Order: sequence, then C-alpha cells, then structure tokens
Amino acid sequence: MRHVLDLIDDRPDEGVFRVHRDVFRDPAIFELEMARFFERGWVFVGHESQIPLPHDFITVRIGRSPVIISRDGQGQLHALNNSCRHKGSVVCHHTSGNRRAHLCPYHGWSYGSDGRNILIKDKAEGDYASAFDQDNHDLQAVAEFAQYRGFMFASLSSDVPPLHAHLGDVRTLIDLAVDQAPEGLELVPGVVHYRFEANWKMQLENTIDAYHFASTHPSYLRLQERRASMPQRADAPQTIWQSANKPQEMMGAFGFPQGHAMVWTTTPVENHPLYPQRDALQSRVGPVRTQWMMRTRQLNVFPNLQIASSAAIQMRVIQPVSVDRTEITSYCLAPVGESAPQRRQRLRQYEDFFNPSGLATPDDTVIFEDCQRGMASGAIEWQQGHARGMQRRIFGPDEHAQELGIQPLTSVSGTFEMSDETVFHALYRHWRGGMA
Ligand code: FES
Ligand SMILES: [Fe+2]
Repeated sequence: MRHVLDLIDDRPDEGVFRVHRDVFRDPAIFELEMARFFERGWVFVGHESQIPLPHDFITVRIGRSPVIISRDGQGQLHALNNSCRHKGSVVCHHTSGNRRAHLCPYHGWSYGSDGRNILIKDKAEGDYASAFDQDNHDLQAVAEFAQYRGFMFASLSSDVPPLHAHLGDVRTLIDLAVDQAPEGLELVPGVVHYRFEANWKMQLENTIDAYHFASTHPSYLRLQERRASMPQRADAPQTIWQSANKPQEMMGAFGFPQGHAMVWTTTPVENHPLYPQRDALQSRVGPVRTQWMMRTRQLNVFPNLQIASSAAIQMRVIQPVSVDRTEITSYCLAPVGESAPQRRQRLRQYEDFFNPSGLATPDDTVIFEDCQRGMASGAIEWQQGHARGMQRRIFGPDEHAQELGIQPLTSVSGTFEMSDETVFHALYRHWRGGMA
C-alpha cells in the first residue's frame, strides 16, 4: 500500500499534479482525515443568526463529536461537548431550540445554557466522597471557539492557529458576501438536509469545478434557454447562470494556504440582484468591491464550509459520515432587512438551482455516486482531473487578486471554457501536509 504522502503527486516544475483514487475510497484514509482535519482543526459550526436570542441553541457534530452551540442568558456564545459528564450520554437531542437548561435523559443531571452543571439528581442522598466535589461537573467546553462576522468556527483541539490566521485572506472573500447589505447577512429560516453515497471531497471539489457545468447540468441550461424565449412573471428566477459558459465570460481561481479556494466568474451584471442598488453599493464599498460582489463566487473554507454567491447566496455545510457517505446541510443567506419582494425573489432564485428540489443539485449528487462506484476497484490508481489551467496558473497573486488586496498561493484566470482545475491544488497540498 502507498504511503499517504505518495497519494498526491505534486511536481510543479514538470507540470504534474495528480491525486490518487485511494484519497476518495480508502477507509483508513477517511479515519485519518477525521482525526487530522475534523478533530484537530478549525471546523465551521454555524452562523450566529441561527441562535439570536438568550438560551437559543443548535446541535452539530465536529467530526464524530456531538456539540451544542448555545447562547447563554447574558448573550454569550458557548461551544460545549454534548456529552454528559456522568456517563457520557448525549445530553441535548434537538437540532435547535431555546432552553434555559439541558436535562440528561439517563440519570437526570442538568446543565444551564452556559454549560454549567445546575443539578446532580439526588446529590444530597448520594453519599459522595468530598473528592467528587473537587471535580468540575460542567459540560466541557470545546477547546477553541471563535467567530468571524457571524460565521462560527470551533476546534476540538487547542493546537490550532488563531481563527484569523486559519482564515487568512478568506476573510476578505467572506466580507464580499457580508458587506452586500449595511447590516450584514442572516440565515433565512429553514434548512435542507440531504446525503449522498460518496466521499465528502466530491462536494468540496464540485463547488469549485467550472468544467462540469455544461455537461452535468444540460437540463438546467435548456430550461434557462426556454425561459429566455418566453414571457416571465416579474418574480421568476433570473437567468444569471445562463451565459456563464459563453466564450466572452471570464473565470478565475485563487488557492490559499489551509486548503481554502475560490472560483469566480463574470456574468452579465444587469441580471444580478444587486444591480439596482449598484450606486449605493459603490458609495459604501467602492467600485472594485461592487464589481466583485456581482461576480459569481464559489468559496471553499476548508474543510466543511462552502459559500456559493450567484443569484442567491447558499451556505453549504459538509459532514463526512464514512469514506463513501456524506451529509450536507444547506441554508439560504440573505441581507438583513431586505424588502419582502426582494426576499421572495431571492428565495425563488435559491430554490431554482440549489438543493435536492432544485435543478442542479440532483445532477451533482448522482454524479458523486457514479464517481464513487466508478472508483470502487483498485485497478485504476490516478485521477486525471487536476490538470486544466496548468499552463496559465501562476504562483502568488495575479492582477485580480491584487485588485482585492489578497495574497493567494496560486492564481489563474482565462475564458470560462478554460475551466481551470489547478484551483484544487491548494486543497490537496494542505491535505497532504495535514495527513503527514
Ligand atoms: S449519563 Fe447523564 S446523568 Fe447519567
Ligand atoms: Fe454542479
């Protein structure tokens, strides 16, 4: 069997970058990924707007560990291991809610919304030795917990860089989403869960894979063409993606340290939902950032967050379950305080493309499962899917990155048809470093 470091064949001087298929299909690799990236690194755990009120909570998993993200009575946020200090039971079984206290269903210990133990059932009658009282009985806080502009991240290990260092220039790209409205973004209530029988990195790759668009989503494109030729209701979804594969459009990509990456595409700005507000936006954030806000941008924040900004903003959270099973949670992000008609239009846009009920996601998830099945045999070792754009990719920032004031490890830009694949290299270079 190959050593894990030999699963990424990275020879920039020779124009070679190859990923071995065991990266997607070996259960031992999956176990190591869980330990290295999901249980020893920063993981996205939620958006602050999911728990706006005192005692609001959500439950999530960090790798394989259940966690409660809770706002206490003073408004302070906490990330708590959702495991009773008594005998380990999961304490909170709800995905979200509002609770002053969480009661363990096994022996009835109880914890406040700040994680503090507030009841040990029949404590007085328990004949505990005084040594027991020396122990802390509170829900154990997750080792690291921090937020950037409403996006909450946590790490089960304290052996991580500060969050701002982990995110690096990705903060600028998150700003491009958040600053679209003066009061920032919020999650629209409602959430979509789905799962597919394939490796989690299929989703991580697919979101920044421009190459698959026309071949995987022909029915979506045909529908867009039909819509363009027919009279439309005022609140019908805009066809912002329709021309995303025309030769005059440009695409580009940035790869960052820590495995983050972004693909951007120019689209006709007149169709963009921000277009009517462009003057106000320009005076608030300047012409360059206004232009970038009206480009489609697919951002991966390694390992489990994706922010897809096009006609609507989708936030997707990736939860690996096993080497060939993945759960996705999907949310619609929207500017705080937008008008009811704008919100309605946004939701129609969001439903149109994303999620199992949309016109694109089912194509993608079926393909992920096809890939997983196609790779089942060890007969074929190497993928050939990380090579497009190699001649155009440069190390460091290009003029587009300079415009944004960011310092990616790699940059590339060209026609949409170039459909670069070097954008995946940052992911696998970080992966290789983390698995070593
Ligand atoms: S395991 Fe929670 S009270 Fe016993
Ligand atoms: Fe797709």
